[in-house]
Amino acid sequence: MSVSAQLQRLIAAAAPYWAGEAEVFRTYWIWEKRTRDTDRRWLAYQCSKEIWGSGLAPLDKGIFLGPAEELIAAFPKIDSEIDRHAVLEIAEGLRAEFAHYCAFADAYDALSLPGEAKLTPQMVKLNWPEDRALSELRFAHKREHPRLGTRATSFTEGGYCTLFSEGMKLAEHTSGPHGRANALIAEACAQVYEDEFGHMLKGIVGLDAEGLSAEEWQTLERLSLEQLKARIIMRNAQFSAPLTPALLEEVLAGRCQPLVFDYEKAKLAA
Ligand SMILES: [Fe+2]
Ligand SMILES: [Fe+2]
Repeated sequence: MSVSAQLQRLIAAAAPYWAGEAEVFRTYWIWEKRTRDTDRRWLAYQCSKEIWGSGLAPLDKGIFLGPAEELIAAFPKIDSEIDRHAVLEIAEGLRAEFAHYCAFADAYDALSLPGEAKLTPQMVKLNWPEDRALSELRFAHKREHPRLGTRATSFTEGGYCTLFSEGMKLAEHTSGPHGRANALIAEACAQVYEDEFGHMLKGIVGLDAEGLSAEEWQTLERLSLEQLKARIIMRNAQFSAPLTPALLEEVLAGRCQPLVFDYEKAKLAA
């Protein structure tokens, strides 16, 4: 599939911010303040995202209960009101996100000491302020621009999967003080990476078919970049702030070396 010049522009505009998010993880992995506690903290927060959804779904339902209820409501309407493939897609989304929750929750539990409580969805229901800010920004965008806000939210979902791609690289660093944690994190990230790359593509595919005007492309870019910046702030807080305020400012100004979008893996022709 070939992509329009406008979509390529949107991808190019996002690339320095995707790189910025990756910078948080790379800095954290080798950070002198990284401990078992900071590892468990970010893993629990990640579980919160995988089950409650950070603005991808209504806050009280999240991305487990939301689709589960949709499935129950859809059942009597299959192929009378709702196409069976649309229902299958809801089921697949539920399965995928819960599998991600399990992957990170397993890593969290594997890093526990005897007597420490097992992770539960309720335990991670209260996420952290910077993640709530991202959710609120996404809800506000969807309220102000129902179509473009939703598009921007899908486009920014997962932040080009850099947590998972950077986490997978830890498989090469399984000796030393963080060796065991690195192995667990790499394993969890490997389980999630391909799914989330697909979810990101879903946010991209179809954008060209929307028939957006030049002005709408501009709005979509503005909303997307606002969300991507909020993602970087959310990630830095999730990982106990490994980026110094000065470095964070640079990253938020879009001064990272842009990440190279893999058009081949995405099966998109630029
Ligand atoms: Fe996920
Ligand atoms: Fe996802």
